[in-house]
Amino acid sequence: MAARWLLLLGQCALVYSTTIADIQGTAFRSPLEGQTVKGVTGVVTAKSASVSGFFIQSAPVSDTRSSTGLFVFSESSSVLASVVVGDEISLTGKVEDFRSSSDGTFLEATELESPTSITVLSKGNTVAPLVLGAARSPPTGEFSALDVGPDGFLSVPNNVSLVDVANPTLQPAAFALDFWASLEGMLVTVPKPTSIGFENDFGEFWVRGAWTANNINSRGGLTLAPGTDGKPDGGPETVIIGQPLDGTTNPTMSVGKTLSDITGVVLYQFGFFYVLPLTAPTVLSTPDPTIPATTLTSVNDGCTITIGDYNVDNMAPTSATLPQAAGDIATHLRSPDIMFMQEIQDNSGPTDDGTVDASQTLSALSSSIKSQGGVTYSFTEVLPINDQDGGEPGGNIRPAYLFNSKTVSLVSGIPVGGPNDAVEAVTGSDGQLTLNFNPGRIDPTNSAWGSSRKPIVAAWETTSGARFFTINLHNAAKVSGGSSLQGDPRPPLNGAVAQRTAQIKVIAAFVSGLLAKDPGASVIVGGDFNEFTQTRTVFAPFEGLLTEVDVAADVDPVERYTYVFDNLQEQLDHVFVSSAVAGRTVEVEHVHVNSWAPDVNTRTSDHDPSVARLRVC
Ligand SMILES: *[C@@H]1O[C@H](CO)[C@@H](O)[C@H](O)[C@H]1NC(C)=O
Repeated sequence: MAARWLLLLGQCALVYSTTIADIQGTAFRSPLEGQTVKGVTGVVTAKSASVSGFFIQSAPVSDTRSSTGLFVFSESSSVLASVVVGDEISLTGKVEDFRSSSDGTFLEATELESPTSITVLSKGNTVAPLVLGAARSPPTGEFSALDVGPDGFLSVPNNVSLVDVANPTLQPAAFALDFWASLEGMLVTVPKPTSIGFENDFGEFWVRGAWTANNINSRGGLTLAPGTDGKPDGGPETVIIGQPLDGTTNPTMSVGKTLSDITGVVLYQFGFFYVLPLTAPTVLSTPDPTIPATTLTSVNDGCTITIGDYNVDNMAPTSATLPQAAGDIATHLRSPDIMFMQEIQDNSGPTDDGTVDASQTLSALSSSIKSQGGVTYSFTEVLPINDQDGGEPGGNIRPAYLFNSKTVSLVSGIPVGGPNDAVEAVTGSDGQLTLNFNPGRIDPTNSAWGSSRKPIVAAWETTSGARFFTINLHNAAKVSGGSSLQGDPRPPLNGAVAQRTAQIKVIAAFVSGLLAKDPGASVIVGGDFNEFTQTRTVFAPFEGLLTEVDVAADVDPVERYTYVFDNLQEQLDHVFVSSAVAGRTVEVEHVHVNSWAPDVNTRTSDHDPSVARLRVC
């Protein structure tokens, strides 16, 4: 009997001594998941009705894999009212690894639910925040040990494993997800934060703190570029700052603002490990609002051409951003000889009335460029079939060209292609390489283009008669089917990656066919690829066929970006050239009219334009 009592007492002692570190464990999921634990003690570090709960923290433990912070979930106002920050409490609750029902790709977050028996043991305690960047810094290399594959977190295939199923033991010094999971629920300070993007619709924004970071660009943001291990570096050493817990409002953000220190608690929500600040930070400095224009001006020497590339984000004739885009082209891009435009909507914009012609949109843009000191542009397009190319319903977005007929002209005497006419490279009666349609669409009925834009090919001549070919494209968007950088599927799901891969294959086949007829042809392929070249599997069909101008011009990899998304400045827009062009002088500049905008709401578009100066003879 005595032994039995001892055993029972022993079990009671175990139950009553459950610590926060026991609950958090050393892996992503709690080893006590689903269990009711009693006598959990900790000091309340933060509470807010906005997150439906409060955070408690115990004394540090030697095992840095185990967090000593914990989120206690409760929507009960009387529960929330029963504790104040600084109270050391004891409580009972149920351990849960909670995943939001809003998105199955989010990680589970360890929390204590249904808190009862809350007893205040003492009041007025303080918890010193863990200052990041000192003893512990976010790792700079990879997000997860599960991001296997040749392209790191961008590897295809992705979704090879799920964090919450594999539940790896945390390696906080090596992997960012593990690092933040080891701090889940804890009070931390992000010292000397620098904003690396714009705030989102909820006033949340990404920062890096005063700790080692890779691939910092000249504006202060982090560029998606190769890391020290040669694999794509997704900026794991960054963190998203949520809404302040005290009800204050975060200031508006742009890339490169520096901020006062941020102290807050770590909570996984909406696909990311957040630091929820106790109060809003203040802005200490703001980068120079002057955005330099390109230095790559048109020279019109019969061999050199300038091309601009700009996704103008759903532009209709009446778009408020149309004069802004026109101003960008006139002043910041200095009127390139040819503009590769994407997301030109039809004359009725998003009204879904069967209109497919965009001549009014393009002439409005051209007039506005002229009135703002730019050149007089002509334009050309291939009309799409109504509602077949994706994008904003009714908008019929398409790629189109503006061109300065004083410096370049379309090879004449060739009909413009219809929506289902496949453009082909053919030898003309003069023996020169030309097209059967000018402009025309590449293999438009190929299933690779389903609900997506068909690229348009054009044949051109300079004033000296030098011939060259351009392809203007806008590949399928990543918008749906993706998962966050800090989500459950590893490597993260890359929405529509299979379609973009198929599209690149079709484009490569067209270029190969053209170059088979004339290996010395000058071919320029540009537009919104909706993909990073670091996802090498997607761009594999271009290998040995086309060279990216950034590579040919040896642009610093951290300055190659045209887009700000989450924690990264990244390049979705690219220009590639055939070997004849790559072998001559190649120049390119990305003009950061939008990535460097002082305010997200004053941007023309979500993409930056680029200008390349190339030799076609
Ligand atoms: C990702 O993988 C999981 C587990 O194999 C699977 O259930 C899920 O459907 C996959 N998601 C996608 C979008 O393929």
